[in-house]
Amino acid sequence: MIEMTTELDLRTVDARHHVHGHTNLRQHSQHGPSAMVVGGEGVWITTDDGRRLIDGFSGLGCTSLGYDNARLATAAHDQLTTLPYAPTFYGRTHPTVASLAERLVAKAPGDMSRVMFQCSGSEANDSLIKFVWYRNIARGEPDRRVFISRWRGYYGNTVASVSMSGQPHMHAKFGLPLEGFVKTETPNYYLNHSDGETEEEFSQRMADDLERVILEVGPEKVAAFAAEPMQSGGGAIRPPEGYWPRMQAVLREHGIHFHVDEVVCGFGRTGNWWGSETFDLEPDSISCAKALTGGYFPMSALILKEDFYQDMQRNADEVGVLGHGFTYSGHPVGAAVAMEALDIYEETDLVGHVRNVSPGFLAGCEALLDHPLVGDVRGVGLFCGIQLVADKGNRELFDPALMVGQRVQDHAHDRGVYLRAITPDRISFMPPLIINEEEIAEATRRLAAALDDTLTELGR
Ligand SMILES: Cc1ncc(COP(=O)(O)O)c(C=O)c1O
Repeated sequence: MIEMTTELDLRTVDARHHVHGHTNLRQHSQHGPSAMVVGGEGVWITTDDGRRLIDGFSGLGCTSLGYDNARLATAAHDQLTTLPYAPTFYGRTHPTVASLAERLVAKAPGDMSRVMFQCSGSEANDSLIKFVWYRNIARGEPDRRVFISRWRGYYGNTVASVSMSGQPHMHAKFGLPLEGFVKTETPNYYLNHSDGETEEEFSQRMADDLERVILEVGPEKVAAFAAEPMQSGGGAIRPPEGYWPRMQAVLREHGIHFHVDEVVCGFGRTGNWWGSETFDLEPDSISCAKALTGGYFPMSALILKEDFYQDMQRNADEVGVLGHGFTYSGHPVGAAVAMEALDIYEETDLVGHVRNVSPGFLAGCEALLDHPLVGDVRGVGLFCGIQLVADKGNRELFDPALMVGQRVQDHAHDRGVYLRAITPDRISFMPPLIINEEEIAEATRRLAAALDDTLTELGR
């Protein structure tokens, strides 16, 4: 006899059998899931206990169009019933992915002309790492292998992309990072500036550190510098004034390939199609994912310039093929959903919408600076980092054992808004791009209440 499981039972089932990433394993197996999400509508998610929460984190920064977009669902359904799968190896293709490739390179910042598809941001960045090595061998520079990136950067979880990431807890106990992945400073002005140091001076210090690292490695050995326009997994860290012009000047001076990770910033998050536009970046390559399909299908893209492709082609001529690819690269359903998402972004002028609601969103966040727990608020578009501190006077952080960020996240959940706390006690607030002004006000009100709850709890 088959025993039926109820939804309540499924919490236990999950606790017993499901290994979750970025989760405290012991706590999960002992206490079960922190949330069981069963549905969604617009910017709202519904949990198994019938509660509705405003999604203040767009799932994981991907559900730009919310949870009930019928057009995306129809595009997926139509593609599934026409051509549910097609490989892209051996020069094979299908119409939807060819159209998407053309459209993405036309949209991309700078003069990009080639795109390779993967299923995740990690794979896009991993492909980039391999392709830069591959290209440098074609150019007779096989020793140009070192990747420079920033502490707190988040580029993914595959062996190479996590090595490029600057999150120590993702290296610990894995015997990582791999050799040849070195780091420069994270541009967290609020926490890391010295007393009296202006944003411009701080930015110069950051650029000096990048140059120090390049010279230590040896410029001829540096393969690329990789960075997000605004660090996401690092805590929604908006770069300070003068940061990117100075960093790019150093890269240009030493002729270093600049890879821009648009996985979170791409498709409107910062109030432009690309974070590269918002911060005036001149990337040599970009990776994107997440909002490419609004999170409705796993798909990512690595976008390259023509000369890069030409170098790769020379190696492939010798080997016979490009010895790299994934079974699901350019999946027809992902491509159809991405095409539809791009249509929606254009037809609804989603970037224009982000620009319209952004001032209210940022003002609401900045009003939280009056709260005793909040030391710093910095954002752009619909992307904001909120730093919690024990003492605003000297920017002193809380004892990590108090898990203050986690407490705010939990209280926010109880108040009906889903947010993410990032070490050290920084709240990342990035709602779906379709959010309206009332929903923004409601989410911010709930966050303020969660801060009050946390303060009361800490007082106790
Ligand atoms: C900026 C950035 N790059 C890359 C990734 C990795 O993407 P994925 O989780 O799809 O592998 C993430 C994930 O959050 C990210 O935030």
